[in-house]
Amino acid sequence: MRLAGKIALVTGAGSGIGRAIAQTFAAEGATVVVSDISAESAQETLASLAGKETCITGTCDVSDGASVKRLFGEIEKQYGRLDILVNNAGIGQTPGDGFDKYQARLAQRMEQLQRGETPTVFGDQIVDMTDAGFDTVVGVNLGGAFHCSREAARLMIKNGEGGSIVNISSTGAFSGEGGLHYCAAKAGILGLTHGLAADLGPRKIRVNAICPGPTLTPALLAISEEWRQSMAAASPLGRLAEPEEVATTALFLASDESSYVTGHTLLANGGTYMH
Ligand SMILES: NC(=O)c1ccc[n+]([C@@H]2O[C@H](COP(=O)([O-])OP(=O)(O)OC[C@H]3O[C@@H](n4cnc5c(N)ncnc54)[C@H](O)[C@@H]3O)[C@@H](O)[C@H]2O)c1
Repeated sequence: MRLAGKIALVTGAGSGIGRAIAQTFAAEGATVVVSDISAESAQETLASLAGKETCITGTCDVSDGASVKRLFGEIEKQYGRLDILVNNAGIGQTPGDGFDKYQARLAQRMEQLQRGETPTVFGDQIVDMTDAGFDTVVGVNLGGAFHCSREAARLMIKNGEGGSIVNISSTGAFSGEGGLHYCAAKAGILGLTHGLAADLGPRKIRVNAICPGPTLTPALLAISEEWRQSMAAASPLGRLAEPEEVATTALFLASDESSYVTGHTLLANGGTYMH
């Protein structure tokens, strides 16, 4: 029971990695606030938790500062404190961002290469990326982590007992694979992690990041089997991650087992990218 007596908020907890983190934390004795933009999926996660009678759901769009403030108001009212925040909510793309055109071109380019031709089609992702698409992906991934960290810090400082913030970034922050808006946001999360760790350390608030590699969640199941297989083959471990394997790294960073670790980025990516 490494999180006994702790109050933990997990954003984007209605699916995939966030759900696995909520389940792992609850099994370790935490009271979990299961938050998601989708009330229905948050309820499904809540129903799956050990010790669910002590947990609650809270609908929240992390990209909206006012929505985040409302959620934290509820947390303060209900528990009066927060010990752990996991900034997990994220999206890889958004309708109309131009990413679909880029992917179509990449597929054409791959076909040309497979036919042994000199490719005449290029990715050129930025050419079709819209302002709104860029802002939305950055707003959810990076803006969300900012909004939630600010409210968490206010509550943790008020409580005076410190806390742990765990930010879910991505291997894409280093490798550049995926949408460039997504890579930019996930790299921004690492900068946010460093800045917060330096600033909040004297308040006994530790701030760390996890960079998962390809993980078997609904987000990844949406892509083709062929693409998934190629990602698995690119890993020295020869497979994709299960969400629970990312959740146990979050448990380490959230718990006192990592009491002298702050400002760190933990790669949970099966060796798909090393640094
Ligand atoms: N699956 C992977 O391969 C992988 C790899 C690297 C990093 N990640 C990161 O891990 C995190 C979880 O990814 P996942 O694969 O479990 O995704 P997922 O799509 O399965 O789950 C994401 C959850 O976030 C919620 N969400 C989306 N926008 C939101 C918003 N504005 N406010 C609140 N909630 C919102 C969704 O409703 C969903 O429940 C993300 O930050 C993602 O970028 C995933």
